[in-house]
Amino acid sequence: MTPTSTVKVSLIERSYEIIIRAGLLERLGRELKRCGVQRKVGVVTDRHVARHYLKSSLEAIKKYGIDPLPIILAPGEQSKTLKTVEHILDVLARHRFERSSMLLALGGGVVGDMAGFAASIYQRGISYIQVPTTLVAQVDSSIGGKTGVDHRLGKNLIGSFYQPRAVWVDPLTLHTLPTRELVAGLAEVIKYGIIADESFFAYLQRHMSELRGHVPRIVATVVKRSCEIKAGVVAADERESDRRRILNYGHTIGHALESLGGYKSFVHGEAVGIGLVQEAELACFQGICSRAVVEEIRQTVKEAGLSDRMPRWTPQKIWKAMLHDKKVSGGQVIGVWPERIGQVRIGPIEKQVFEQWYRFHESLPMAMPNRAFLPSPV
Ligand SMILES: NC(=O)c1ccc[n+]([C@@H]2O[C@H](COP(=O)([O-])OP(=O)(O)OC[C@H]3O[C@@H](n4cnc5c(N)ncnc54)[C@H](O)[C@@H]3O)[C@@H](O)[C@H]2O)c1
Ligand SMILES: [Zn+2]
Repeated sequence: MTPTSTVKVSLIERSYEIIIRAGLLERLGRELKRCGVQRKVGVVTDRHVARHYLKSSLEAIKKYGIDPLPIILAPGEQSKTLKTVEHILDVLARHRFERSSMLLALGGGVVGDMAGFAASIYQRGISYIQVPTTLVAQVDSSIGGKTGVDHRLGKNLIGSFYQPRAVWVDPLTLHTLPTRELVAGLAEVIKYGIIADESFFAYLQRHMSELRGHVPRIVATVVKRSCEIKAGVVAADERESDRRRILNYGHTIGHALESLGGYKSFVHGEAVGIGLVQEAELACFQGICSRAVVEEIRQTVKEAGLSDRMPRWTPQKIWKAMLHDKKVSGGQVIGVWPERIGQVRIGPIEKQVFEQWYRFHESLPMAMPNRAFLPSPV
């Protein structure tokens, strides 16, 4: 029998389960029935995912007497707009979806964020289920109820907190994921080790090549532990007032790089990978962690196939982009700083400190890569 893992996201009346099971897509109809779906379900997906999984998913749903309505979107971040959500709402209205109808988000974070947002506003809220098919979505975006779209003035600027009814993860879908997307997802996985679990970080170090080679047992273990960590953080702080901020480790610099690159130079996880290393460098510069911690993070990021190198933008430009991030509060940049692997602290950083660090960095003969263990400058 295929092993099934369940992780609970405890949010009182909004609690739900993450089910992780190889081959779960073949059981979509059965699972929907178990959730009480009787008549119809809107299956929101994108063209890439549809090519691999739509036909079989629809068949699995029909087998249980449920009527699935496919809503196929253009793939990619460019389509994560209000216009696309309007299209989803149009289809739902035309097909007379009711308050009791349900949406299923079959795809990566882009599909999940949009389907979740559409579900949150159609008839003031209908249920939706996340069926994530990228590593980023399986370990991160499908959990926690952040939904939304981009605006021309900022990424994820419009949205809502709206929890799914369930998250169903089929790790086998990762087989068709392009390598670049898989590697990008590893940045979020490494992040979980750094912010919350030293032994998980060590597990990742030991099994990185198997993980990249899709060894099912390793992938399932990593997805499950990542979900547990995210679920634990979300349960402690659903609306990101405090503790949930630790999930932003690597993202202060990461988001700045994404925006400076016009969201074209990097896939999100690639920018986060650089952020993990460079924010550890900054923590070291501030005397928060040792150089050995930085080098361990750097090594792991590189072994995942991610870059650790800061692109050459001026510190002023990077700082400005960091200030634009919506996580900034009261004009202050609040960072997440590793103290050691498995433990981080949250704290503000001043512009002067950032610029000093950046210049110090630039002045080193071998800028970032593979630097030997230098003593901490603080
Ligand atoms: N809501 C949250 O908490 C949260 C957290 C992290 C990221 N996000 C959002 O998630 C988005 C990024 O998600 P993503 O990295 O999953 O990107 P994505 O949804 O764009 O998917 C990446 C690419 O992979 C394709 N794809 C998806 N699954 C596939 C599969 N199994 N086989 C083959 N191709 C497949 C997609 O069509 C797309 O081209 C961003 O918009 C980001 O803002 C949200
Ligand atoms: Zn992220």
